[in-house]
Amino acid sequence: MNEAITITPAGREDAASISSVLAANRDDLGLFQESSTAVLRALGDFLVARNEAGKIVGCAGVHRDLPELAEVYAVAVTPRCQGQGIGQQLLQACQQRARADGFRHVWLATVKPGYFSRHGFQPICRWKLPAPVLLRKLRQTIQQPVGRWLPALFGRHTFMWKTLGTAPTSDSGTEAKGNSA
Ligand SMILES: CC(C)(COP(=O)(O)OP(=O)(O)OC[C@H]1O[C@@H](n2cnc3c(N)ncnc32)[C@H](O)[C@@H]1OP(=O)(O)O)[C@@H](O)C(=O)NCCC(=O)NCCS
Repeated sequence: MNEAITITPAGREDAASISSVLAANRDDLGLFQESSTAVLRALGDFLVARNEAGKIVGCAGVHRDLPELAEVYAVAVTPRCQGQGIGQQLLQACQQRARADGFRHVWLATVKPGYFSRHGFQPICRWKLPAPVLLRKLRQTIQQPVGRWLPALFGRHTFMWKTLGTAPTSDSGTEAKGNSA
């Protein structure tokens, strides 16, 4: 049986673990890597998933782009814990947080559109995103190791969009226990 997972906003002490979860998935070229320092700078964005022993086994970020638009990013689960619904719970918690913070829409860029379409995200043309949002993403991309530029810059990323309803979405089958987002 899968362990109970608790999802909470990240604290300063979680920055190194978040960076480690991202690093553990470094073979996934679609996932941007962040140092602990970079995570600390954006700490308010991050949610963490903890297992019953209190160990961080997943993370995700929600970044405010515009008053009504936020990016969901850095969605990652420790490799040996994947496939247990933790990614789904993190995505659900991101949407709860975004809704609570007043965002009406969330977007993301991914090389795994199949996964996110299962959770109601729909592909969009990247050029439909507001220019400041695209520019921020471009700046973020060129701060990554060069190997991550190519998929991001030359079309391997699918940009996706979801309009948030006021009520929990249909992918809310697994409640994020203890989520305070
Ligand atoms: C993508 C990721 C966050 C999913 O988290 P997870 O906890 O493993 O996924 P869940 O347990 O919520 O969902 C598993 C389900 O999604 C499906 N799934 C996984 N990857 C998929 C993909 N690329 N396309 C379509 N479905 C996918 C699984 O087959 C499984 O289906 P099932 O429930 O019918 O058996 C995780 O695999 C991960 O961290 N990957 C590496 C980092 C990454 O790629 N992050 C995305 C940013 S680009």
